[in-house]
Amino acid sequence: MVFLNRVFSVRPAAQTGFKRTSERLQQTSNARIPYSGQQGHTFLRNDHSHRRLRPLVSTPKKLAPGFAESRRTVVAVAAQTSATESQGTNPYAGIKAFVAGATGGTGRKIVEELVAKGIPVRALVRDKSKASDLLVDGVEVVEGDVYQYMTLPKALGDCNVVFCATGSREPLDPLGPFTVDYNGTVNLVNVAARAGKVKHFVFVTSIGTDDILFPLNLFWGVLFWKKRAEEALQRSGLTYTIVRPGGLKNEPEDGSGKGNVIMKGPNSFGLPPREQPGSILREQVAEVCVAALIEEEAANKIVEVISKESADEQSMSDLFAGV
Ligand SMILES: NC(=O)c1ccc[n+]([C@@H]2O[C@H](COP(=O)([O-])OP(=O)(O)OC[C@H]3O[C@@H](n4cnc5c(N)ncnc54)[C@H](OP(=O)(O)O)[C@@H]3O)[C@@H](O)[C@H]2O)c1
Repeated sequence: MVFLNRVFSVRPAAQTGFKRTSERLQQTSNARIPYSGQQGHTFLRNDHSHRRLRPLVSTPKKLAPGFAESRRTVVAVAAQTSATESQGTNPYAGIKAFVAGATGGTGRKIVEELVAKGIPVRALVRDKSKASDLLVDGVEVVEGDVYQYMTLPKALGDCNVVFCATGSREPLDPLGPFTVDYNGTVNLVNVAARAGKVKHFVFVTSIGTDDILFPLNLFWGVLFWKKRAEEALQRSGLTYTIVRPGGLKNEPEDGSGKGNVIMKGPNSFGLPPREQPGSILREQVAEVCVAALIEEEAANKIVEVISKESADEQSMSDLFAGV
């Protein structure tokens, strides 16, 4: 998405006189959209006087629901199959991942990160012939289109976590953001929710989705539609992590290092008075996405991520806990 890179490379004027409102605002979006009939999650009511969602009932959440159970299962299976195998200590054991957008820049990095963690992957592609490089051990390539609902249940198969890193590829198609970024994601969310076995849905969107004035919306309201898709996920009852990156890069700029990840709550970066949106490597976004599966503080959060060389290095646990 060349146009996205262009927009993110435009740096807003430095902030001096503004008191940052992100700390106040981050709680607004980092909340479950009111949803009825769900157990073990935070229920919310809309408190109009403060324009924020406040919890009505909050039950402690130790781990993305289901993983405690799948971990136990895996420990038992590992003990049966081999006493020497270290499966029981692998926090990712028992996970099978579905990646939509697997041929894209970030999707490929997510697949690589999953494979590196030993997690079996089903990679959704629209055209298998363009995905030969994804065919590595541990990756099963399946064809489908997020806009074609009926292609998705079979493609999802027996996966129990979902990553969505899709994005409209056609900057000149006015319906692209509605079709792919919104409708396609809603299809995927619905299929995941109905499957009944998906324990976590990780969704890559973008910094700026809370801000209708963010310049990217000039491209057929792409951030508006991403935000609507985020809300559909939040309402779905699925455990989710929404990862909003700044400008995406494949390589560090000449002469600079990767930098360290900075993670903040929703609406922290963007137009003034927010912080400058900055950028981040796709591989770092992938690391954040995959870590979200096992970090209990990642469940049901929206996080905005950029990277900076001047930032202190932090563990994923500390990054998620800080939001
Ligand atoms: N570029 C940036 O600076 C930036 C910044 C912040 C956030 N983002 C967002 O981050 C996400 C990842 O960005 P990226 O640049 O890494 O992605 P990308 O390279 O543009 O890849 C997009 C992926 O979506 C897939 N896709 C498009 N329409 C689809 C459909 N109907 N069904 C199934 N798959 C479909 C594409 O598949 P095909 O290969 O078949 O086309 C491709 O795999 C996107 O949501 C993007 O908007 C981008």
